[in-house]
Amino acid sequence: MLKELEAIHADALSAITEIADTEGLEAFRISYLGRKGRLTLAAAGMKDIAKEDKPAAGKALNEVRDAISAAISEKGNLLQSEADAREADNVDITLPGRPMPRGSRHPISQILDQAVATLRRMGFALASGPEIETEWHCFDALNTPPDHPARNESDTFYFEDGRLLRTHTSTVQIRTMETTPPPVRVIAPGAAFRRDEIDATHLSNFNQLEGLYVDEEVSLADLKGTLEYLLRSIFGEKTPVRFRPHFFPFTEPSFEIDIMLEAQGKKSKWIEIAGCGMVDPDVFNAVSKSRADSAYCPEKVSGFAFGLGLERLAMILWGIADIRLLIENDVRFLRQFP
Ligand code: DAH
Repeated sequence: MLKELEAIHADALSAITEIADTEGLEAFRISYLGRKGRLTLAAAGMKDIAKEDKPAAGKALNEVRDAISAAISEKGNLLQSEADAREADNVDITLPGRPMPRGSRHPISQILDQAVATLRRMGFALASGPEIETEWHCFDALNTPPDHPARNESDTFYFEDGRLLRTHTSTVQIRTMETTPPPVRVIAPGAAFRRDEIDATHLSNFNQLEGLYVDEEVSLADLKGTLEYLLRSIFGEKTPVRFRPHFFPFTEPSFEIDIMLEAQGKKSKWIEIAGCGMVDPDVFNAVSKSRADSAYCPEKVSGFAFGLGLERLAMILWGIADIRLLIENDVRFLRQFP
């Protein structure tokens, strides 16, 4: 019996080296380990072995079976990796790749990036504030009296606790001055919220870009120069810009800025694009009270502020007729702004 097992072992190990494919390997497995395989038949001979020889024969039988099984699985792995290598040889690495469709920046982000880049070159740093605000930061500190229409329930989203979704980014003017002594030169892009009926020119959630510059002897000339430069960098160097007297509670004097645009095929006309003005002394007084110091004493410092709506800017720049296109995320629209 032991001799026979040895013979089977030796035959198996030499036969397996000749095998070239998985079918051959399976046939080999059956011929040794299958129901009528050599090893199985040899095992059947166990019953004729003398009782005292059985343990040694059984042990030898198991060893040979393990050795053959191990050889089969090793050969199987080898055949598989050879097959993988052949497969890899068949890959045509000169085949052009499949293009990944590329997205692009949203038009609002594009115009914001451009405005921010221009203003940063002029020394403005980015600032931000919370979208959920106190009435103090949104109105009182900005010299907006309790009976001002902007404070009305029907114009503004209030929370139970009296806070509100900021109606403009001018809140960041106050927050900046509360934490930073002059000089400050900041811009604050961000969301603003109003209880507006949504239509072709209104959204209840839109984006503004706020600016504030406070130092000793900041003048209206600085305001004009800065905003003319900004608007011309967006709309073109020769764009006419005009400042029209207006009213905002937090600036005095205040202006609306118009630019002259030639709509295709139509007569050019003035279009309102931003609000601005010289920071009202009452705003400095409110900030001084909150800071409990005189860093922003209106006798010492002056400043200008401005705010513009980014959706409006984009609509004018690209001739977008309906503001809702900017939030629908329809790729047929967005693809036009690569
Ligand atoms: N906060 C104003 C608005 O939402 C825009 C504005 C006007 C901002 C004049 C300013 C400013 O900083 O000086 O309508």
